[in-house]
Amino acid sequence: MFKEKKYSRPVKNIPKGFDSANDFFEYLFNNKNMIWMGQNTNHLHKEDYIYNGMVECLKNREYSKYPPSEGFSELKRLILDDLGLNDSDILISSGGTDSLYLAMNVILEPYHNVITPDPGYLIIDNFASRFAGGVIQVPIYNKECGYKLTPKLFRENMDENTKVVVLIDPLNPLGTSYTSKEIKEFAEIAIENDIYLIHDVTYKDFAKEHYSVAKYAPNNSITIYSFSKIFGMAGLRIGAMISNSEVISAVKSMIINDLGTNIVAQAGAIAGLRSKDKWLGNIVETTRNNQKLIKSMVDDIDDVFIVNYPSDGNMLAIDIEKTGINSEKLAEYLLDKNIFTRGGNYTSSRFGDKYLRVSFSIPEKEVLIFNKEFKKTIDILKIK
Ligand SMILES: Cc1ncc(COP(=O)(O)O)c(C=O)c1O
Repeated sequence: MFKEKKYSRPVKNIPKGFDSANDFFEYLFNNKNMIWMGQNTNHLHKEDYIYNGMVECLKNREYSKYPPSEGFSELKRLILDDLGLNDSDILISSGGTDSLYLAMNVILEPYHNVITPDPGYLIIDNFASRFAGGVIQVPIYNKECGYKLTPKLFRENMDENTKVVVLIDPLNPLGTSYTSKEIKEFAEIAIENDIYLIHDVTYKDFAKEHYSVAKYAPNNSITIYSFSKIFGMAGLRIGAMISNSEVISAVKSMIINDLGTNIVAQAGAIAGLRSKDKWLGNIVETTRNNQKLIKSMVDDIDDVFIVNYPSDGNMLAIDIEKTGINSEKLAEYLLDKNIFTRGGNYTSSRFGDKYLRVSFSIPEKEVLIFNKEFKKTIDILKIK
């Protein structure tokens, strides 16, 4: 009989009325009026730099050829420039997700354990559990640690088998990020103890400041890069992983798709990086302003608060625990109003009931609709 692997992800929380998660997401996708606050994607690009880069590739029918298997060298150089990591090695992948899987696969052995933040981006924990013997999910949903995995928590939770510590910076779902002092301290601990830091910088460009751990620990870090968020290219599935050449060549020897990453996506990514200084400012300004609008709405409601404000990401978590409302139910109610948000269980089994996650890289008018409906929904559900 066919047996599922030990790391199979349990299918949970299929929304009411749907047979599978896929049906649910297809329904969302096909509903063109849906306000997209549930996936931290970016709907703010109004200029055509990225679009034109891809159209050019399509017009020339370049997609008939295979791309170079490890990525175009211009794209690799542009990403390393963007990170200020010109001495590192890099592999283009089909997204941060792919890079995270490859990173875990290349480093971990069954006797290792991995430290992750809880809340966090749970597919990372799943990938870790496929290759390591244990995943230590450190609770960080509290003020004392500043809602992030700190160097102190790293020291307290590591043991002689710890091989990887995951730094999501800024953190999905809370939007906390690291200071340069913390980044240096993480680097020191990792070097001292022969541990790898997986630095997931998917949301870095939404942050006020960002520091690269690879600058301080080039031989003890893997940086995970994505085009899904600030570049607004989630559907194109493209990203990268950056480390020293030893790690990258080990990864190259075990990649599945050795015929390369989507050529149209690479054309868009190159165009996005070449033009980044022309569009970044507007996107960051709009997201910050949207965040302020959500904050003033939340401040007007009793018993709810933004867990970490301001968030350094394009998402934030609204704590609703004191209202007694279930976060999945709240998300379902909002979905009925064509607003897609995420109940906390998507990013934490332990703390998920306490918060709703909303992303705000969407047009301001949609944020105002969310504000109105959120307030109304809290009133309705509180009475029930
Ligand atoms: C922390 C983090 N890493 C990676 C990803 C996925 O990135 P990609 O779309 O490039 O696979 C996400 C998506 O939400 C994320 O939150």
